[in-house]
Amino acid sequence: MFANHRRAFQEQMEEGDLALFPGASFATRNHDVEYPFRQQADYWYLTGHGEADGILLLSKGIDGLPNDGLFVLPKDAEKETWTGVRLGPEGAKSTLGFQEAWCLEEASKLIPEAIQKAKRLWYRIGENAALDKQVLGAVTASRMKARLGIHPPEAIVEPTHVLHEMRLFKTEEELSFMRQASAVSAEGHILAMAQAASGVGEWELQALLDYTFRRNGGDGWSYPAIVAGGSNACILHYNTNHQTLRDGDLCLIDAGAEFSCYAADITRTFPVNGKFMPDQKAAYESVLVAELAAIDACKPGASFNEVHMAAVRSLSASLVELGVLKESVEEIVEKELYKPWYLHNTSHWIGLDVHDAGRYKNGEEFRSLEAGMCLTVEPGLYFAENDERVPKALRGMGIRIEDDILITPGGNENLTLAAPKTVEDVEAACSAARVMPPVLDTELVAK
Ligand code: GLY
Ligand code: MN
Ligand code: MN
Repeated sequence: MFANHRRAFQEQMEEGDLALFPGASFATRNHDVEYPFRQQADYWYLTGHGEADGILLLSKGIDGLPNDGLFVLPKDAEKETWTGVRLGPEGAKSTLGFQEAWCLEEASKLIPEAIQKAKRLWYRIGENAALDKQVLGAVTASRMKARLGIHPPEAIVEPTHVLHEMRLFKTEEELSFMRQASAVSAEGHILAMAQAASGVGEWELQALLDYTFRRNGGDGWSYPAIVAGGSNACILHYNTNHQTLRDGDLCLIDAGAEFSCYAADITRTFPVNGKFMPDQKAAYESVLVAELAAIDACKPGASFNEVHMAAVRSLSASLVELGVLKESVEEIVEKELYKPWYLHNTSHWIGLDVHDAGRYKNGEEFRSLEAGMCLTVEPGLYFAENDERVPKALRGMGIRIEDDILITPGGNENLTLAAPKTVEDVEAACSAARVMPPVLDTELVAK
């Protein structure tokens, strides 16, 4: 899969072109503790190399350079004892199928030499300060060598115009990872619905989600989970998850797993006590109807923005039915009167990054959907506790329903359908048997 991605990118390169892509490095969390490592998405897409500090080199028709090569951390028995086995250059060739591989320390010599030979350089400036310095140093140095027949590349080309367009269209192999991530994420939501109850900590459900993602073979989460009881759900990126759930509130969970770096992104909203109250049900079903209308708009040829507008029209009609607005739907849509309660967009691309690569517009116009694209559909309504513009019974609830949609030749496939979302299915999932072991009484231990 990764070698195919490299070949496809190279087809877009011209004779004499060189391309460089840095991988991710470890980032310090505190003192000598690092954040968990996550590979840079473009690098992963082209290499499948999961170690830190690598650099990918692609070239086309340049004397003395391979079509593809990888700079990797060297084999080092002592370091590997501390931090884990490395592929080393030989492993990079045999395991990842590279024509050539070098130890990372050779990059400072080989990369400037390669740049001096390149007609054009595909390189994303501004992503990796260390490699930027090396690349710009090599370009500057080559200006001084005109009398030796050495010149800087004619152009530095932004590779993501090509690469991110490739990433936007998922292959069956990529989709198999996304399906796994979706299935595991749906399982996490199902278990969280069963476990939720008055007095349960938002953090407990977060822990259950994270546990479920790892337990079922995922790499972990694709973004930190939002577990938001009551009006916490009106804070769109709430993820402190430090409050306890209360009887009579709704709980919004936005959480997804990652498989081989491919993300799922699911939101579900459910009653903490397992049963929607009438006003909650009315508001919930307003969002559900909007979500279904927006999913229905997901088909080849539809503009990306049609999906959003389908949700907006439906939510606008519901805001009237819920007694929040009195104007006509046309006026609400045209003057964006819905915005105090629906302030975000309906969709984003999803793939190796949860907010995935790929253009949304061609020029001024939103682009059309095509088979192979994956996007989320995630309408919501957010009624803050102190919002006097809305009927009292609606205040203090935030509702969002989010699925991951693959555009197919005939329409779409909902990758995350396994997470319950009709009122009946959600209530049934909430009343399923509880599974968690008891929480330790750590106060007792501390005494
Ligand atoms: N979980 C991030 C989002 O829904 O966009
Ligand atoms: Mn999303
Ligand atoms: Mn989400």
